[in-house]
Amino acid sequence: MEKILDCIAGQVRAAFSACGYEADYGKVTLSNRPDLCEYQCNGAMAAAKAYKKKPIDIAQDVADALRQSSADLFSQIDAVMPGFINLSIQESYLAGYLNRMASEDRLGLEPIGGGRTVIVDYGGANVAKPLHVGHLRSAIIGETIKRMGSFLGYHMIGDVHLGDWGLQMGLVIEELRERQPELVYFDEKYNGDYPEQAPFTIGELEEMYPAASARSKTDEKFKARAQEATFRLQNGYPPYRAIWRHIMDVSVADLKKNYESLGVTFDLWKGESDVQDYIPGLIEDLRKRGLAYESEGALVVDIAEDGDPKELPPCIIRKSDGAALYATSDLGTIIEREKLYAPFEYIYITDKRQELHFIQVFRVARKAGYVSPDRKMIHLMIGTMNGKDGRPFKTRDGGVMRLENLVKEIDDAVYARIMENRTMDEEEARTAARIIGLAALKYGDLSNQASKDYIFDIDRFTSFEGNTGPYILYTIVRIKSILARYEQETPREERGTAVIPEASSAQEKALMRKLAAYNEVIEASFSETAPHKLCQYVYELSDAFSGFYNTTPILKEEDPGRKAGYIALITLVKRVLETCIDLLGFEAPERM
Ligand code: ARG
Repeated sequence: MEKILDCIAGQVRAAFSACGYEADYGKVTLSNRPDLCEYQCNGAMAAAKAYKKKPIDIAQDVADALRQSSADLFSQIDAVMPGFINLSIQESYLAGYLNRMASEDRLGLEPIGGGRTVIVDYGGANVAKPLHVGHLRSAIIGETIKRMGSFLGYHMIGDVHLGDWGLQMGLVIEELRERQPELVYFDEKYNGDYPEQAPFTIGELEEMYPAASARSKTDEKFKARAQEATFRLQNGYPPYRAIWRHIMDVSVADLKKNYESLGVTFDLWKGESDVQDYIPGLIEDLRKRGLAYESEGALVVDIAEDGDPKELPPCIIRKSDGAALYATSDLGTIIEREKLYAPFEYIYITDKRQELHFIQVFRVARKAGYVSPDRKMIHLMIGTMNGKDGRPFKTRDGGVMRLENLVKEIDDAVYARIMENRTMDEEEARTAARIIGLAALKYGDLSNQASKDYIFDIDRFTSFEGNTGPYILYTIVRIKSILARYEQETPREERGTAVIPEASSAQEKALMRKLAAYNEVIEASFSETAPHKLCQYVYELSDAFSGFYNTTPILKEEDPGRKAGYIALITLVKRVLETCIDLLGFEAPERM
């Protein structure tokens, strides 16, 4: 369905044109004086200069033309000094728009993606290191972007892109040698098969990496051994490959469980290790074509461009000791993705500290022609999640918070809130707390602009009032209960046809106008990779519903036709809210 603002602008453009002016002057925006009108067009002011006329005369002309052409669309058409055109939408038109919306697939959202492929690289957990809150935002935001894109008809491919090839692997291997030197992997003379079963559990593995990392900071020899082990692993040394496999199996199973508990899923579980075979060819290609050159023993590609605000260092693709780097593996990944999926667009979601890395990778990819200029490459940089003290979020004892514990803390907070009112038995409260807790966590994150740091505040996020996930769920639950009561109280033959009528109050119209903005908001949130805009929308829609609900005794309405109309309207509110929260990656409970 055409967006409501476009429907309006279309008419205004035609009116400019009919009066002999360039149609492009007919731009329409939401009014910034809602007390005067709902929409406005300031085009007469700009046209005045070009046509050497008084703005008010042009505005008058256009307003007259609109009164002729579009009386069904506008309830108000005013030309006011010095040359504004003030507009309000006709109630019947708005009702017609919403009824069409209610009858269409996806509530009238156009499938603008047209099946084009978009790779979303998010999550980015590192194997062998526990998944912590630092990866949380990327996972939550990426999941939403993927869901919005699919809903808009793009072919979205989500890739977790594991960090599974770095020094952490060598550290864990050497830590394992310290702890269990008798294992066959460390016997140079052993040449049998390696065990199927990993010699450690996830609990042990999680404990090994921090121990090894700490040890490497004080013990130079240990650090050198870990580097050596990493190097041998990367060159295919069989026993270390076998340990690596164990680490992967144990770690990935745990990661899957964790992501699942967040409602985050991936189409691909690829990682840095998967593209290592592309790297020699990649380096050779860049070198042969003169793009990569030796600099202080390393191999680098210049990426600086005219107009850069500051000097950007070249991208190192091979260190002087021969090791490939993070950037090299991202370039290898691009080559593989081009080969397998030829995406129309790439979206990477990571910490903002990786800004330079992605500038370098994107520029090398473009310069070498691996990604053609008409393809979009986006790095969505995310800000840090801080504690109430304004510093990166930590546990009470100062460690990095495990995701599991974080989720549990939120669930417990929600559970406590539900139990304050004691409207549910414990079991139902536990289930509801899980559902509401996830919404609190995700909405708390998504409602902040991705690139900004934000304060993780459990009390605020779990509040049932204000701009929070639970408040949105509460709105849906409230509508569900009105609808259930209506069905109970009203015999089927009295229910009337479910048509949304013309608004009869300001609150009703405000709610209807919010509903009509749905398709525009989803398109913008996706194309601007800005899930916070979708959050803002569901919040405003919930508030508009509240305004309507508080002034309209829906179930007490005596006229059955009018009552059925209210029911049709709030049913659409519920559908829109449910659709939006599904895109945001959470759902509503039955009661709360
Ligand atoms: N593993 C990386 C980290 O923890 C994030 C990976 C992001 N994706 C990518 N293609 N580089 O920082």
